[in-house]
Amino acid sequence: MHSEENNSRRKFIKLAAIGSAALGTAPLAQAFATNQTSENLQNPGNKVPARKGKSVMGLRCEPLKTVRIGLIGIGMRGSGAVGRLLQVEGVEIRAIADVVEKNVKEANKKITDSGFKPAVEYTEEEGWKKICERDDIDLVYQCTPWLMHTPVSVYAMKHGKHAACEVPSAVTLAECWELVNTAEETQRHFMMLENCCYDFFEMNTLNMARNGVFGEIYHAEGAYIHDLRWLKFMKEGGYYNRWRLDFSKLHTGNPYPTHGLGPVAQVMGINRGDRFDYLSSISTNQIGMTLYAREKFGADSPDARQSYKLGDMNTTVIRTVKGKTIMIQHDTTSPRPYNRIHCLSGTKGMAVKYPEEQIALEPNAHEFLKKEDFEALMKKYEHPLATQIGAKAKKVGGHGGMDFIMDYRLIYCLRKGLPLDQDVYDAAAWCSIVPLSEKSVLNRGNSIDIPDFTRGAWETASPWPIVTID
Ligand SMILES: NC(=O)c1ccc[n+]([C@@H]2O[C@H](COP(=O)([O-])OP(=O)(O)OC[C@H]3O[C@@H](n4cnc5c(N)ncnc54)[C@H](O)[C@@H]3O)[C@@H](O)[C@H]2O)c1
Repeated sequence: MHSEENNSRRKFIKLAAIGSAALGTAPLAQAFATNQTSENLQNPGNKVPARKGKSVMGLRCEPLKTVRIGLIGIGMRGSGAVGRLLQVEGVEIRAIADVVEKNVKEANKKITDSGFKPAVEYTEEEGWKKICERDDIDLVYQCTPWLMHTPVSVYAMKHGKHAACEVPSAVTLAECWELVNTAEETQRHFMMLENCCYDFFEMNTLNMARNGVFGEIYHAEGAYIHDLRWLKFMKEGGYYNRWRLDFSKLHTGNPYPTHGLGPVAQVMGINRGDRFDYLSSISTNQIGMTLYAREKFGADSPDARQSYKLGDMNTTVIRTVKGKTIMIQHDTTSPRPYNRIHCLSGTKGMAVKYPEEQIALEPNAHEFLKKEDFEALMKKYEHPLATQIGAKAKKVGGHGGMDFIMDYRLIYCLRKGLPLDQDVYDAAAWCSIVPLSEKSVLNRGNSIDIPDFTRGAWETASPWPIVTID
């Protein structure tokens, strides 16, 4: 575990003690008035550490006939991944790990029920290390809690494996650099599993953007607005040891930016022709988790007396070096319908996904397109991946099919020896918003530089193309 995390853990224990003593029965506004204390935080600047390996921009590795997977973390997300991966051609799940034995047994039943040999099982705390050390694994696929993501991925790459990891793949700036440096040193693929890049409207609007439908896109918006209070506070059957709630106790800013950010960053050619320059981030006070805990467990319950650092709504604005802006929001606490926004605003028109998929174009961009014109445009610019595997993806499922398209493309690229759709630079840039938004929030929204994880390669790299499969 990194010293940054150790520090925050120590800080957390101290804060928790202070928080529960100070809160008592004070009114909410008073109790949380000091939520956003300004700290004398250093702007990390664009300090770029010396490169240890060589660039992995456009990395191609040896094609794999069969992709032999070691799957680590088989909770709510990982169990879905097992079901999907078993339906992708050219996959064998060779080894599985989870500290909850039932999860491992259920996964292996799915594997054998699908006609495959049982996977080797690991249930001890560090069983994931043994998976990374095996010589019959090509890809370590990880769906564990956030704090495991970078350590496991780094260990996997250092043992010669490609690594695919759930979002966010890193939660500190040190972790972002560790992923980049390890991928460059080992020349292994690292892909963050940002499934929203494969949702149908996102792919469709990417295709439209590449074809100039919106003109030049100067501003985009994304979000993760998802009322998760019930799941975060669930004591049994929810997140393992309530890991997501623990993170909310420790951290503010935007801990989960990539669902909204990934798709718009791809559209805007981030790390490929443009890059993030700096951000400013502000958060509301934390109110909703405490209200929920008071209502559900009582005002004197430990959950209600606990202090939570995570503000209910966080708004982060990123400016790119080419003068474009991206607004990203995070709110997992307020009673609101699910929303990732996905808004693209260009010189010829705009698209928005939530609450309803809509497009407006010049010469009449004052109004959204009529249903039949919208549908004709969507058909004309349907993404080839949707045409090619959209129907199967919808059948297999996983957030309406996007999860299957993501897995399919990942395995397809590994089998063909192609560069992956999302690389380690994307993961680092998108995840750097986690620690940097927190720093900005704690510093009254002051701007914070975002490092160039590509070390200059963004200037000559081409925007990610419209990819297909055979
Ligand atoms: N992309 C998406 O749409 C999406 C959706 C949900 C969750 N996620 C991400 O997936 C990840 C997992 O989330 P989840 O909802 O499945 O949480 P979860 O708590 O249900 O699953 C985590 C699993 O990791 C296991 N685990 C804990 N310590 C372990 C260890 N040392 N070795 C092996 N396994 C260990 C737990 O037993 C649990 O089964 C998170 O990063 C989350 O952000 C992504």
